[in-house]
Amino acid sequence: MIKDNKLIASEISHIAEVASMLWSKGWAERNGGNISVDLTDCLTPRELRTKPVKAGIVLPIPMPALEGHVFYVTGTGRRMRDVAREPWENGALIKIANDGLSYDILGINPVMPTSELASHLLIDSSLISAGRPMRVVLHTHPTDLIGLTHCKELLDSRKLSLLLWSMIPECRIIVPKGIGIVPYVAPGTIELARATITLLENHDVIIWEKHGILAVGDDIIECFDAIDTLSKAAQIYFSARAAGFEAEGMTNEQLQELALLFKLPSF
Ligand code: 13P
Ligand code: ZN
Repeated sequence: MIKDNKLIASEISHIAEVASMLWSKGWAERNGGNISVDLTDCLTPRELRTKPVKAGIVLPIPMPALEGHVFYVTGTGRRMRDVAREPWENGALIKIANDGLSYDILGINPVMPTSELASHLLIDSSLISAGRPMRVVLHTHPTDLIGLTHCKELLDSRKLSLLLWSMIPECRIIVPKGIGIVPYVAPGTIELARATITLLENHDVIIWEKHGILAVGDDIIECFDAIDTLSKAAQIYFSARAAGFEAEGMTNEQLQELALLFKLPSF
């Protein structure tokens, strides 16, 4: 039974831990947000041959780079607070077919994957093709960061990254590549997936205007930490405004000093 695989159980417990944090942060209203993790390397050859409960679900576009890969994905319409309590009942293990054209749902029950599956898989596929595979895609709806995208002036990757970095030194260190911005596109579309992929060439965290944020990485806790740090920076910005003054922010020289001290990529 895949559930008894210790590596898988550990991965699923991290997913449940993050789902719980997303809910308690207030970032996961109803079914807001979704998670996928590539678990292929955790499975034995026998487990990889598990009989599907639903087979041959056609992918919106072919994904040859993902042939045979197995992912845990949260279910569409499922509440993050339920994923936290019962990750197996509110998510699915999916296996991409050997031709990369369809996928099967393995194991326990046929939970249909998130409506953002196209974004998750296209991101995984393009990162593999670019030679920097990442196991985790985390999408959530942080109130403060989404709030910032309602300000036209801040819809500029450089401007927004500098603003958030300048609120607290850790932000520059924990999110060293800054934040990419996808102008508003309807959720769940291939267009949103494609726009996100382009920005992932230069960033690990992307904000979707007036919708939410997406982080990629190898460790789901670190993906959460990156978003949490950006959210902290946004809160500092808003709390200063609420108190009636504009946050001064660290100077460019201070940010430059951090980049040198921590050997961060220049921006
Ligand atoms: P799903 O419930 O389909 O995962 O959708 C949630 C969401 O946040 C869409 O962007
Ligand atoms: Zn969303």
